[in-house]
Amino acid sequence: MRNVYLVTAFVVVLAVSILGFRGTKFTQPPMDVFPEWAFPGMKRQPKPRPQGESNFFADGRADRPLPAGVVSRNPLRNDDALYAGKAADGSWVRGFPVSVDATRMARGKERYTIYCSPCHGAVGDGNGITKQYGMGATPTYHDDRLRKMAEGEIFNTITHGSPNKNMQSYADKLFPEDRWAVILYVRALQRAQTGTTADVTTDAGKQALGLK
Ligand code: HEC
Repeated sequence: MRNVYLVTAFVVVLAVSILGFRGTKFTQPPMDVFPEWAFPGMKRQPKPRPQGESNFFADGRADRPLPAGVVSRNPLRNDDALYAGKAADGSWVRGFPVSVDATRMARGKERYTIYCSPCHGAVGDGNGITKQYGMGATPTYHDDRLRKMAEGEIFNTITHGSPNKNMQSYADKLFPEDRWAVILYVRALQRAQTGTTADVTTDAGKQALGLK
């Protein structure tokens, strides 16, 4: 019999703890298990904050000046062309601030196939697999605007995403050098679509393609 009371009490507590006080707004802060008055120094320890003040040091700053010869743990990315796609005058870089060769092209093709082709398609016509699943906004590379777009601007799109953010940033997936490799391959895809028979029959055409 005694168990009936115990079980009922347990069920009531369980029901209230699961169902009760839903959506209730509390005005008081939650219970403090280690209140400051009982355990001083546990939570609000005096400590210098970054860029804060400190009267411990004569110059009043909490941050200490860097000792001479300090080396940054992050590589210094002060080459705007390579890391931002920008020329010295602030315009988008045209051409490639990295070496261009078959190795880079192969790397670009590989990275492109992994990261871009699901949307932009294997030939860059915007007909990737995601189109069937509602990604209809993917543009083809084979229009004049994107053919003429500076390499630096494409670099910027890969780094920060497209202007209206329908395409996200790929900066966390592609190293800057790989972004240039991908652009190189995009250029090859664009060139491939504008090929003519003269490219492979005339001497000038062959030479331009490096076939002769
Ligand atoms: C998830 C699908 C998706 C992937 C993956 C993707 N894109 Fe896009 N991309 C888009 C869409 C959608 C747009 C059109 C964006 C817009 O309208 O702003 C776009 C636009 C672009 C543009 C044109 C930007 C402009 O200014 O109009 C370039 C260049 C581009 N993508 C390159 C790439 C490259 C290079 C990759 C691989 C690193 C890539 N995209 C991967 C969906 C994608």
